[in-house]
Amino acid sequence: MGQYDKEINRRRTFAIISHPDAGKTTLTEKFLLYGGAINLAGSVKGKATARHAVSDWMEIEKERGISVTSSVLQFEYDGFCINILDTPGHQDFSEDTYRTLMAADSAVMVIDASKGVEAQTRKLFKVCGMRGIPIFTFINKMDRDANDTFELLDEIEKELGIATCPINWPIGSGKGFKGVYDRDRHCVITYSDTEKGTKEGETLEASVEKPDELKAAIGEDAASVLMDEIELLDGASAEFDLEKVQSGKLTPVFFGSALTNFGVEFFLQHFLKLTTTPLPRKTDNTVISPTENDFSAFVFKIQANMNKAHRDRVAFMRICSGKYDASMEVKHVQGNRVMRLSQPQQIMADERKILTEAYAGDIIGVFDPGVFSIGDTLCMPKENILYEGIPTFAPEHFARVRQIDTMKRKQFVKGVQQIAQEGAIQIFQEFNSGMEEIIVGVVGVLQFDVLKYRLENEYNVEIRLEPLPYEHIRWIENKDIDVMKITGTSDMKRIVDMKGNPLLLFVNSWSVGMVLDRNEGLVLSEFGRE
Ligand code: G4P
Repeated sequence: MGQYDKEINRRRTFAIISHPDAGKTTLTEKFLLYGGAINLAGSVKGKATARHAVSDWMEIEKERGISVTSSVLQFEYDGFCINILDTPGHQDFSEDTYRTLMAADSAVMVIDASKGVEAQTRKLFKVCGMRGIPIFTFINKMDRDANDTFELLDEIEKELGIATCPINWPIGSGKGFKGVYDRDRHCVITYSDTEKGTKEGETLEASVEKPDELKAAIGEDAASVLMDEIELLDGASAEFDLEKVQSGKLTPVFFGSALTNFGVEFFLQHFLKLTTTPLPRKTDNTVISPTENDFSAFVFKIQANMNKAHRDRVAFMRICSGKYDASMEVKHVQGNRVMRLSQPQQIMADERKILTEAYAGDIIGVFDPGVFSIGDTLCMPKENILYEGIPTFAPEHFARVRQIDTMKRKQFVKGVQQIAQEGAIQIFQEFNSGMEEIIVGVVGVLQFDVLKYRLENEYNVEIRLEPLPYEHIRWIENKDIDVMKITGTSDMKRIVDMKGNPLLLFVNSWSVGMVLDRNEGLVLSEFGRE
């Protein structure tokens, strides 16, 4: 028994993954509403008001020089202490989005019922899949016309390679949406279009074992379709298996409508029951349990400042074991020094509060005077432990960068290297060449603008970016391979990363398969090693 078991075991730390517009923000806000973290009065007018409040707060943060995008929201619900990690989408999509998933113990995948599995969901899912964390699916927008339910499940299974197990089942969609069937309790919960922002609408429960009750609740036609579907479903869907859920092989699926607040609390309650407490984490030579008394954490994200006037950065760390309290000193293993963390803070739904204590599962942000790197370990007492690093994720956009004024070569190289060290971009060189030619790879195109802006403002160097057509990058896993002897395709380019690892760039995914076919024994990976 660890000293902090009680606090640690009530923590649930998860990320919400989705394609933009599937309803991640709406769902998050509804969670916060249940947790009482945003007050009801403020959000009665709906999401617009709530979002307004949140974005105002972000403006303030920006002025102070710290952005809170991709941070964490903490709230209490039913005795649980919940940490939701935000994975920014839209144009903010970047490596940070992926890195954030490294700090989560499970993921909630939100899918728009009329769109199915979309590109960004697919990418984020891949990272969750790599870690084998539990994934829960919320199929949203059932109040709009939806795709066929069986087809939606089939798509998830085929496209993402994970088995599905519906926990509830929708009855119609759009104008004909009647509610959901709770497979465990054999009853239907009827849908009512609530006023946006209020907690849960008036619902009615009817047992499918009482035909009259059922027909009265959802109508004769819907009842007959439902009974057929239940029969089909019971025959076809995977058995519920908690072990498979917890190892990420089976995703429990829920249906609902975040906007009208239907099925959200049902989801939250089941999710909290089925998801995991903070997971043990691997170090270079052992596995550390979250309930060990000694504090340890790793840095998963560094938020550099875009404002020239303040050069401060915030390092976000995930606590992996024990308890942190603000008065304590910790050891920064990579820097080999003992330090007190500066201005430790926790991001709440509507405020940033200076933190007094935090436990395994929690995320804290600390002021970083430029000493931390992504993947660094912090611990106390001083015995060295070293958490497994964070993989490098495959960039999808590439450009050649050149400085316009050749006299500024030194600043240019320094700037590009520093920004790459912060993890905002990845830099590569042509195979067998020096730093004359720098190729920059990014996960989201906005990072190119960030690079240009920061080089101009912080390093006083103007650059020219020449986009390259490559979209696929693969690290070569084979050690001792003669890279020049790899039989390539016409669109393949050989490059090396900053650590000297050889890689291949391709214009299309077809060529990746071709090169694998042509070179027996060649092992290519989408994730870079340490
Ligand atoms: P995101 O964070 O995943 O990008 O999605 P977000 O929650 O911002 O939702 C995207 C749009 O979808 C919003 O509409 C939102 O109101 C709507 N939406 C979310 N959940 C549901 C749902 O269950 N049913 C329906 N019908 N719509 C839903 P918008 O018009 O873009 O924004 P707004 O004007 O409503 O703020």
